[in-house]
Amino acid sequence: MSAQTDAPSIMIDSEAARRNPFEVLERLREEDPVHWVEEMDCWLISRYSDVRSLFTDPRLSPDRRKWAHYVRPAEKSIFRWIDDHGLVAVSRKEHARQRKLFASGLTPRGVERMDGQIREVVARFAQPLKGRKGVVDIMEEFTTPIPNAVISAITGVGGSDVDEDRFSQLAQETIQGFFGFVSDEIRDRAESAYVELSGWVRGTVRARKGSPREDLISDLLAARHGEDKLTEDDVIAQVSIMLAAGSETTATGGMLALSTLLDHPEALERVRKDRSLIPQTVSEVLRYAFGGLSGMQRFAVEDFDLHGRKIRKGQQLLLSIGGASHDPAVYPHPEQFDIDRNPKDLLTFGIGPHFCMGSNLARGELVCMIDAAMDFLPVGATVLHEEKEFQTLGLFERVVTCPVDFGS
Ligand code: HEM
Repeated sequence: MSAQTDAPSIMIDSEAARRNPFEVLERLREEDPVHWVEEMDCWLISRYSDVRSLFTDPRLSPDRRKWAHYVRPAEKSIFRWIDDHGLVAVSRKEHARQRKLFASGLTPRGVERMDGQIREVVARFAQPLKGRKGVVDIMEEFTTPIPNAVISAITGVGGSDVDEDRFSQLAQETIQGFFGFVSDEIRDRAESAYVELSGWVRGTVRARKGSPREDLISDLLAARHGEDKLTEDDVIAQVSIMLAAGSETTATGGMLALSTLLDHPEALERVRKDRSLIPQTVSEVLRYAFGGLSGMQRFAVEDFDLHGRKIRKGQQLLLSIGGASHDPAVYPHPEQFDIDRNPKDLLTFGIGPHFCMGSNLARGELVCMIDAAMDFLPVGATVLHEEKEFQTLGLFERVVTCPVDFGS
């Protein structure tokens, strides 16, 4: 029995559970949809209807400072700044103001304009993979570097004067500091990576102030709503966060898209022959493959009951994206990867005021990655699942390498 509930305890903090998250989530949805995770001191919410409504429930906040175990990061550190001034910390009014100004560059039309840049970057990494034999780590050689290169092309940060590998490494190290349950060492490394990354952003912002170009930073500096505009510091901080937020997620998304298709050769061959199927394939990948045994963090700002469980003010809740996306009440036969499904109302990008600002860009990149991969993945290529490497972050198992056998 769990200390907080009378529910039977379901072993979720084990390697087996982390590697087969959807089986565990199925059990949780059926037997204990508001599950107390003793080891992590948090609630795991696994049904679609709960996840959806809790994303916008006023009894919860995404602000980490509301957590009973919150430890204030060191003064002057970036994590202190983000906790106090980031998009989840500022007032609703300030959040809406910043989003209005920021989102202007990332609308579907804005992303359409970037299509050429995205395709150019993807083609650059796809070219060396054509005709390759043997084992290729598709993360290292394809999906990991692309989001950074895309975002650097779009924002104007980096460019030819910056070492792309270093840039990619910094973005990845920075985002790891945002994951829950990471060690002090990882957080310290994230801190220094962010400082270096934001230094580049600052340089670009200063350069564009005098002479704007066709890039997102120039657009953001010029963006106005009436008299309102973003300050130089707003642009530096949020673009740096965007560089980090848009890299790891989309790199993982690309890997999930390719490995899921490789695991479903019939679907892959259909997509290879008919590229118009790619956008709906991306939607199904977002439903089928994203999630794992973790979730979006929320913190209770008052006591309340949920399905008979007593949620206490200050407790942490993880809203499980994988749990929601595999809920048969919304997506029949959720364990089947069906590119004709066209899943609606996905929660993979969240919902409500904090809905992902980069969702159009992420979808655009995933479409281009799949399209390019159809020209380099040989028929019969297979993912070597047993040889994949992982990093454990709390309940979540982050994939670090994804070796694929391209044949001999
Ligand atoms: C497949 C890729 C991606 C996934 C699955 C993803 C997922 C999410 C989710 C679930 C949220 C909501 C968080 C919450 O409510 O707590 C979010 C927020 C956010 N995402 Fe993404 N994201 C992706 C790509 C991107 C990209 C490419 C960018 C930027 C270029 C980006 C920028 C952001 C930002 C700035 C927020 C915070 C919005 C706010 O608080 O108002 N994301 N993302």
